[in-house]
Amino acid sequence: MITLGIETSCDETAASICKDGKILSNIVSRQLVHTEFGGVVPEIASREHESLLNTIVHAALYESKIELIELDAISVTQGPGLAGTLLTGISFAKGLGIGLGIPVIPVNHLEGHIFANFLANESLKFPFVCLLVSGGHTQLWSVEGMERYMLLGETRDDAAGEAFDKGARIFCLEYPGGPEIERAAIGGDSNKIDFPRSLLSKNSLEFSFSGLKTSLLYFMDDFQETESIKLKDVIASYQKAIIDTLVEKVKRALRITGYDRCVIAGGVAANKCLRHQLGVVLPTKEIIFPELSFCTDNAAMISYLGELKIKLGKCESLDFSANPNLRLI
Ligand code: KG4
Ligand code: ZN
Repeated sequence: MITLGIETSCDETAASICKDGKILSNIVSRQLVHTEFGGVVPEIASREHESLLNTIVHAALYESKIELIELDAISVTQGPGLAGTLLTGISFAKGLGIGLGIPVIPVNHLEGHIFANFLANESLKFPFVCLLVSGGHTQLWSVEGMERYMLLGETRDDAAGEAFDKGARIFCLEYPGGPEIERAAIGGDSNKIDFPRSLLSKNSLEFSFSGLKTSLLYFMDDFQETESIKLKDVIASYQKAIIDTLVEKVKRALRITGYDRCVIAGGVAANKCLRHQLGVVLPTKEIIFPELSFCTDNAAMISYLGELKIKLGKCESLDFSANPNLRLI
């Protein structure tokens, strides 16, 4: 079976070909046009998808040496995301699907992030805890199987990715902030500044990052680099405060559920400090990350999950639309 996946939930225009569970191509074009605005401008993002989609889909077909007529199905991100950008992908997918006479299946972007872990870890087994950390979400899930999810906790305010993005803006770094902060923190002393970790009550699996961001804002108000405190020390300390919180909550979630396995999903899963720290704090647990190219938004996770769903007979009619607030359950 050959499935084309299309992802346009935010500012990545992406297409991928999946053949019987194997990714043959994964083309992602990140829209650099938003950099000067310090964040994604929805209207511009939709227009960019509109003009890029045809080229990106053809690039995915070309790289995988698959002809359009060989496609058996199309899967497309339904949500969550920006309404306009989701609609460009869905309209494109439906048009192509009708033209080719093949099914088009809507896929939940968050579920796609979770299943990206199966791409590099074919032997991954349920159940597991999933830490889902992206630009819009920070959630802990108990995952017992496909579509068998139980929410353990989520953020009360900012998402972890948002904490990176907003922090980067305060440090005058570019968007998206995660990779920028990770780079700028290299060589810095992460123990120099004791930024607050909002761990809430003892067994809480909820998150809160807005206090940390405010504390950084006040700190930077009158910060001057000195011999003993460099900017990279502040950046490394800020990153560590986010990571420490995530690691502590994963530790709690594993203790509470009794599971030995945790899967990390979403853009922040690309962070090397998070990867390292989870290994240090939880050496006896199985901690699984997607390949770097499958952490941030991509269509491989959409084509892969779409194919799984079609094989399970979950194909719907074309009577679906974008759902910007789609949840996992
Ligand atoms: O999953 P994703 O690509 O898009 C959403 O679904 O939101 O996640 C994007 C988020 C951004 O906030 C970005 O700053 C963060 O993931 N991110 C990172 C890293 N790479 C991307 N955060 C920390 N370290 C990274 N290396
Ligand atoms: Zn995402």
